[in-house]
Amino acid sequence: MDMRQVNSLSYEEFVETFGNVVERCPVVAAAVWSGRPFANSHDLEASIGEFIDSLPVAGQEGIVRCHPDLAGRDLKRGALTAESRGEQTQAGLTLLDAGDAARMNRLNAQYKERFGFPFVICARMNNKEEILLRLAERLGNEPAQERQCAIEEVKKICQLRLQDIIQCPATHTK
Ligand code: GUN
Repeated sequence: MDMRQVNSLSYEEFVETFGNVVERCPVVAAAVWSGRPFANSHDLEASIGEFIDSLPVAGQEGIVRCHPDLAGRDLKRGALTAESRGEQTQAGLTLLDAGDAARMNRLNAQYKERFGFPFVICARMNNKEEILLRLAERLGNEPAQERQCAIEEVKKICQLRLQDIIQCPATHTK
């Protein structure tokens, strides 16, 4: 889809198309639709980022809570969104050995207990070793710092999902 097509989408079509660029949070697409026309995918990405940043802490935490655990129950039940399944597969999380799977479960549970929301990381920018390392590291963050970190990861996931939907025309210098 190119930007001309993006900008001509009805509200319903726009939410259908971009409703999962932030995992299970179609309200984000619903909120930014009125900001059309978008100059390019970065412009749409920036609008989404500004909307997320404008939310109160409870809203930001709500967005983080909409994410499934990595290598968690939804993956085992086949209940992930297509996007999340693709990302977790790419990061190698569908092929964890028993030891890594147990470690991931334990750390995910500790993380959720400490912060009250699930561990979110842009899985496509990290492999399973890096994900386990970051998870253990981020457990040591202060809550406000960690909320901000999680939100920045949500934005990275969003950026890659937008790039999957919007084709970027070759940039012209003239
Ligand atoms: N990183 C990329 N996709 C996801 C997801 O669906 N859940 C979590 N926790 N992290 C992700």
